[in-house]
Amino acid sequence: TARVCPFAGILENGAVRYTTFEYPNTINFSCNTGFYLNGANSAKCTEEGQWSPGVPVCAPITCPPPSVPMFATLRVYKPSAGNNSFYQDTAVFECLPQHAMFGNDTITCTTHGNWTKLPECREVKCPFPLRPDNGFVNYPAKPVLYYKDKATFGCHDGYSLDGPEEVECTKLGNWSAMPSCKASCKVPVKKATVVYQGERVKIQEKFKNGMLHGDKVSFFCKNKEKKCSYTEDAQCIDGTLEIPKCFKEHSSLAFWKTDASDVKPC
Ligand SMILES: *[C@@H]1O[C@H](CO)[C@@H](O)[C@H](O)[C@H]1NC(C)=O
Ligand SMILES: *[C@@H]1O[C@H](CO)[C@@H](O)[C@H](O)[C@H]1NC(C)=O
Ligand SMILES: *[C@@H]1O[C@H](CO)[C@@H](O)[C@H](O)[C@H]1NC(C)=O
Ligand SMILES: *[C@@H]1O[C@H](CO)[C@@H](O)[C@H](O)[C@H]1NC(C)=O
Ligand SMILES: *[C@@H]1O[C@H](CO)[C@@H](O)[C@H](O)[C@H]1NC(C)=O
Repeated sequence: TARVCPFAGILENGAVRYTTFEYPNTINFSCNTGFYLNGANSAKCTEEGQWSPGVPVCAPITCPPPSVPMFATLRVYKPSAGNNSFYQDTAVFECLPQHAMFGNDTITCTTHGNWTKLPECREVKCPFPLRPDNGFVNYPAKPVLYYKDKATFGCHDGYSLDGPEEVECTKLGNWSAMPSCKASCKVPVKKATVVYQGERVKIQEKFKNGMLHGDKVSFFCKNKEKKCSYTEDAQCIDGTLEIPKCFKEHSSLAFWKTDASDVKPC
């Protein structure tokens, strides 16, 4: 009868594929993810009734402590396997001030026992932001402006900001936006009911200090044939508000005329 080798049907953190443990069969080993085979991936039952080579073990995959990129610090790192890390453990980097990160801040211990690609930290400078026409800009009083520094913009009277008030030095070395100052509009009609942000308002009251650049209102116009009213939009663009041609302003003496805004909509 054939020699029988020792039972080898169980491999901790792995699996064994076999038919029987008799001479001259071969059995195969594999490990679960997160473990590597410390030994050969197959063994043969010899004439002497011994496994050759010997039965392996599945050992946990570990990564050595990660190297830290230049201008970076480890923000999150906790070795879980003595001084090393287990498979799928993570570590998180942070760049020094004035430096921006390129790549992923999080690295992961891979099945190869190394870490995923390290990010890079580079010093990033932004040029001084230019003062907008008819406005001003404030930024930190420093010889050089760096990544994440902020600048704030404002406009002189009669102008309003087109863009955000605050901008930030981005990692590309430019400002997140460059707002400009646009002229406000004088309301060119004495009296009109208009729709502003979904509400009917008296233009002369709502905008007695002028309309800001970008403000949009809808004027009421009459359709004479059908005796109904419709609206047309007008927007203040850098000091100019074009009144829709269909809008007719009534003289305050023409009290017998019905304002378009009081006529039923078309
Ligand atoms: C072990 O692996 C070898 C090579 O892949 C294959 O030929 C053999 O059938 C496998 N044996 C078992 C018992 O799965
Ligand atoms: C961790 O590293 C330190 C310094 O290199 C060493 O003294 C210590 O024995 C290591 N610990 C383990 C568990 O490997
Ligand atoms: C960074 O890596 C982590 C872990 O590998 C991943 O979950 C995340 O989506 C990555 N982030 C980016 C921005 O690629
Ligand atoms: C990790 O090791 C594998 C296998 O040696 C290699 O292909 C891969 O490039 C390495 N990854 C990194 C980020 O160095
Ligand atoms: C900043 O510079 C990048 C690359 O030159 C460009 O693609 C991007 O549009 C710029 N961003 C702004 C807000 O100007």
